[in-house]
Amino acid sequence: MENDSPRADAVEKVSGRAKYAAEHRIDNIAYGVFVCSSIAKGTILSIEEDMARAAEGILDIISYKNCPSTPGYEPLLADGSKNSKQWWGLKVLYDNVVRFYGQPVALVVADSLENANAAAQLLKIQYQAEPFETDFTTARKDATKLKTSGNYTRGKANAIEEAVAKVEGEYNIPIEVHSPMELQATIAVWEGDDKLTVYDKTQGPKSMQGTLARLFALPDKNVRVIVNYVGGAFGNALRGWHNVPAACIAAKKLNRPVKVVLTRPQMFNLTGYRPQSWQEIKIGALPDGKFTSIVHNAISMTARYEDFREGIVNASRFLYACDNVQTSYKILPLDVSVPTWMRGPGEATGCFALESSIDDLAHQLKIDPVALRLKNFPEVNPESKLPWSSNYLKECYEKGKELIGWSNRPQTPGSKKEDGMLVGYGLANGVFGAGRGQASARIILQANGTITLQSAVSDMGPGTTTAMTKIAAENLQWPLEKIKFTLGDSDLPPGPTQGGSTTTSTLGTAVYTVCEALKKSLQELAVAHLDEFKGTDSKTIEIKNGSVAVGDRLVGIDVLLTKAQKPFIEITKDSQGTSAQELKHATNSFSCHFVKVHVHPKTMEIKIKEVVTTADAGKIISENTARSQMLGGVVGGIGMTLKEELKFDHTTGQIVNASFAGYRVPLHTDIPRTTVWFVNKPDPIINPIGAKGLGEIALIGLAAAISNAIYNATGKRVRDLPITPEKLGYEGK
Ligand code: MOS
Repeated sequence: MENDSPRADAVEKVSGRAKYAAEHRIDNIAYGVFVCSSIAKGTILSIEEDMARAAEGILDIISYKNCPSTPGYEPLLADGSKNSKQWWGLKVLYDNVVRFYGQPVALVVADSLENANAAAQLLKIQYQAEPFETDFTTARKDATKLKTSGNYTRGKANAIEEAVAKVEGEYNIPIEVHSPMELQATIAVWEGDDKLTVYDKTQGPKSMQGTLARLFALPDKNVRVIVNYVGGAFGNALRGWHNVPAACIAAKKLNRPVKVVLTRPQMFNLTGYRPQSWQEIKIGALPDGKFTSIVHNAISMTARYEDFREGIVNASRFLYACDNVQTSYKILPLDVSVPTWMRGPGEATGCFALESSIDDLAHQLKIDPVALRLKNFPEVNPESKLPWSSNYLKECYEKGKELIGWSNRPQTPGSKKEDGMLVGYGLANGVFGAGRGQASARIILQANGTITLQSAVSDMGPGTTTAMTKIAAENLQWPLEKIKFTLGDSDLPPGPTQGGSTTTSTLGTAVYTVCEALKKSLQELAVAHLDEFKGTDSKTIEIKNGSVAVGDRLVGIDVLLTKAQKPFIEITKDSQGTSAQELKHATNSFSCHFVKVHVHPKTMEIKIKEVVTTADAGKIISENTARSQMLGGVVGGIGMTLKEELKFDHTTGQIVNASFAGYRVPLHTDIPRTTVWFVNKPDPIINPIGAKGLGEIALIGLAAAISNAIYNATGKRVRDLPITPEKLGYEGK
């Protein structure tokens, strides 16, 4: 690890040179701030604007009253047919309907942020309030309110009734919010009526370009999206939030660049979140531990105005061999803003229940939890019946046990103390889909040997820039410091949206492909233009270290390009998505987390002592940044398990802890010594570089691993996150 190259953009980031969306300096820019609803549901009766309009520096107030007609907002086309390219989700500023507390209902635009904020205080809005519902726990008990999303059955439907050994439990996870450092931000700049440049915090510059082109009925090429750096996202910048259309509509109306940055409190409900969920899981087994049946049902919340679904129960169908499996999933619409994908979406929720239940079963049967998992190890994917492209989970078990000191684990929960503290060990698995999509990459080789790679992606933090330069350096045998990767501009060759842990696989394949093409081109040029290589079979010419070579005959790239009369070589290549080979396999990344905890026997204070996090993510391209992903997953997992919970006042529908004062996240002192270990064996199927995805599995399973360790320490099983001393039975003095 010490020898691994540093993050490619580290200096830009730590020196402050890295420019994030809101930091671009644009002449004559105006500032928009949202005024948000103070009711949870109803209609706006009136907006009294006179005072605000008279305020200093005020340029406009945009609301449903004067929002310009925008093609993508219209449900119907001019000919009366349905507009299939409508804006996805809530059309901000479009109508007078209030759908959740804190919904932006007006955009106040002024010549400075201060003036915009001051004027925003002066709006007087009258509402007609209606009854609303924000309480998930109460509402989900009423079956008529649920929307069915999917059922699955394999084998016998009622096998659970006949199981010899059985565990069952209900699990609750509250809303968790993203809380990235960078606030969601958009700067919109129009040139005339039909050319739009947008600086936006997005995980997908290309998809944002398409979205905005549809919103304003423009050709894609008239919209340019720039996102040079992203200050953390992990799901919340996968789509355009309210700030995007608001900034673009205002900039067009005012004929002046407009910037809209969400405030920190607004980040708590205007950029999605992990939905609150309820799960029920039952596992039946034989006395030797062999699973005979798994039943997993889940419900999660969504908005009334838009459905959000995620794969909460999916891992239960294939992570373990089991003949009889039943799953169901439903969503519950409430008067809240819409949830979104958040690191390990679905699986992070589902694996908390699944992996906690397996731990319960291990204790009940007095079988070691690792042995129980091995007993039910799926040699092929039991849902699709396809062989794994690769599955090295067994190696994770082995190494994790060794590194955490599994042999110190007490056999009987609550039976062991260390320094006066109850001590416990737990493990749990994570799994997520791995695959690849289509992408395009360009390579430009200059005569001086410098290489530029380009693709229209963004790097939200995992180290895409670093990984891509490393793939090229390895493929071309080229010095790393001579390779630059340029991203973050929709004008570059189309790249994937960064999400679902697929960027390294998808874009890495495009980079690999374009490097192969460059090698071929250099080999052919060498045969055609260099006397030394005339008549040589071009395939035998090696590319290394900035030269072309056969044996010890070496010619520099500068000489080759001069002879070939080319100032530079530029090649753009597409890589295909899922291959036929891949379709014949089950493709997943796996993780296994081991946790050691201390719990104070009286105060029940929980102290995580150590984490060992292991993963089978195929070949590790960039050890430094991969390790950082895993560490981030541990931090996120600790937050999810012990701290995070967004709370509503259900009498008003308002979030009561939309700030870091009220919404708890892990602090440095909560993060223990953490060891990261990778199997680091290439997957032979998914792509030519051997890498699988990594981001999601870093977090998935962590909550159960911690919960299992706490159970081992105390004998108390908490199935409602976050786990607190009170839930462990501490009643105060
Ligand atoms: Mo992914 S949910 O964008 O971390």
